[in-house]
Amino acid sequence: MKEKLEQIKASALDVLKNASDLAALEEARIKFLGKKGEMTAVMKEMRSLTAEERPVIGALANEIRSSIENHIDTKKAEIAAKLEEEKLKDEVIDVTMPGRTQKTGKLHPLTKVMNNIKDTFIGMGFEIAEGPEVELDYYNFEALNIPPNHPARDTQDTFYVEDNIVLRTQTSGMQVRVMEKKKPPIRMIAPGKVYRSDALDATHSPVFHQIEGLVVDKGVTMADLKGTIAAFLKELYGEKTKVRFRPHHFPFTEPSAEADISCFACGGKGCSMCKGEGWIEILGCGMVHPKVLQNCGIDPEIYSGFAFGMGLERVAMGKYDINDIRPFFENDLRFLSQF
Ligand code: PHE
Repeated sequence: MKEKLEQIKASALDVLKNASDLAALEEARIKFLGKKGEMTAVMKEMRSLTAEERPVIGALANEIRSSIENHIDTKKAEIAAKLEEEKLKDEVIDVTMPGRTQKTGKLHPLTKVMNNIKDTFIGMGFEIAEGPEVELDYYNFEALNIPPNHPARDTQDTFYVEDNIVLRTQTSGMQVRVMEKKKPPIRMIAPGKVYRSDALDATHSPVFHQIEGLVVDKGVTMADLKGTIAAFLKELYGEKTKVRFRPHHFPFTEPSAEADISCFACGGKGCSMCKGEGWIEILGCGMVHPKVLQNCGIDPEIYSGFAFGMGLERVAMGKYDINDIRPFFENDLRFLSQF
């Protein structure tokens, strides 16, 4: 019996040595220590032993049983540790790996400049008005003192939708729409798209943006126009910017002017940006023509006002030093992501 027990122990240790997972361990436990296992079978034979032999073999059997149990426990701990290690290896995070960049959206450069301009005027107490891009001839021309056959119509190559409906060529029609609805004091800007049947080239696009401005109240003078526009342009282009006004002509303002700023590239010395002039033309403006006020039911004997209009693309091209209008409309991310 003693030999049998030693044999069980040897074969158990051998099996345990080669067990590589928990299932194999459990299988070995059942095979050697289970109710129907080899140890149990041997113990059943204890009855046939003599009274002297029994305690000796009993003690040996107990020792072998606990030795096998110990081996199982040790092996179990080893396998668990190994599993844990493998799991940690799988879950390891390589903190040196380069991250994935998140592509965030950006505002279009025109939107940025537009927001900037809106903020400046809102800060000066102006309201924002928006109106239709498909506009009646009346608002785009007639009410602005541009009757049919007026030569000013030729300078704004117009897209006609119908005889008396156009794609607006300027935002100036918004002056009329606002004055018809609202009585002075009025301080508003009207940003939006305008259309002219120009061929697309570096400085022309059949669609572009204008921002119209209008102030009407009692006692508004040319000095208010100059002060407001100079303050706005200095805010937009920097405190050092010089502003000058040149006489001009628009049918809906009298007197009319164009405002220039000292060149932002050379500061006024003359460079390729300003074509050696030192100045860059930035907007049209003037005192609202009495006829336009009258057309809107505002008495020009009591009220006066000034208006101005500028092209957003031109402002943005100057601000970002871009010499071609086309990239604004091409949706090329290589261009747009630079702003
Ligand atoms: N609407 C004019 C243009 O498109 C600009 C302008 C607006 C001039 C308001 C004077 C007053 O050229």
